[in-house]
Amino acid sequence: MKILVINGPNLNMLGIREPEIYGKKTYADLEAFIEDAFRETGTEGEIWQSNHEGDIVDRIQQAYGEFDGIVINPGGYTHTSVAILDALKAVGIPTVEVHLSDVDAREEFRRFSYVSLVAAKTIKGKQFEGYREAIRWLAENR
Ligand code: DQA
Repeated sequence: MKILVINGPNLNMLGIREPEIYGKKTYADLEAFIEDAFRETGTEGEIWQSNHEGDIVDRIQQAYGEFDGIVINPGGYTHTSVAILDALKAVGIPTVEVHLSDVDAREEFRRFSYVSLVAAKTIKGKQFEGYREAIRWLAENR
């Protein structure tokens, strides 16, 4: 089982950006946490981050035939990107959507997610743990 974890814009700023919402741990801490989750679940994985919508579309397309599952936190593109939704539909790879924060408890515009229209599961508001849950779910529901 090969899982690609995609993190979208501004997640590289973890630890600095809005710590009252996203916590004080850094992006490197998140990467280490996800690596542990790969080990625990016996999955093979790759972690990739970009601030650019088109690059995220390219990475999803490249995952076709290479990965069995995708975990994606599309950051702000969650609420705007038809292109990321279409790319996920195009490759047909089982996808779990993760948000560190509880997007439903924040501004109104964060309540809608394009990616939710294709994701098999969405995990919100569990901070880093959401990624472990997503990886575990893909490993158990392949
Ligand atoms: C986020 C929530 C989004 O609304 C926001 O734009 C992000 C991070 C989260 O992980 O909680 O960048 O996806």
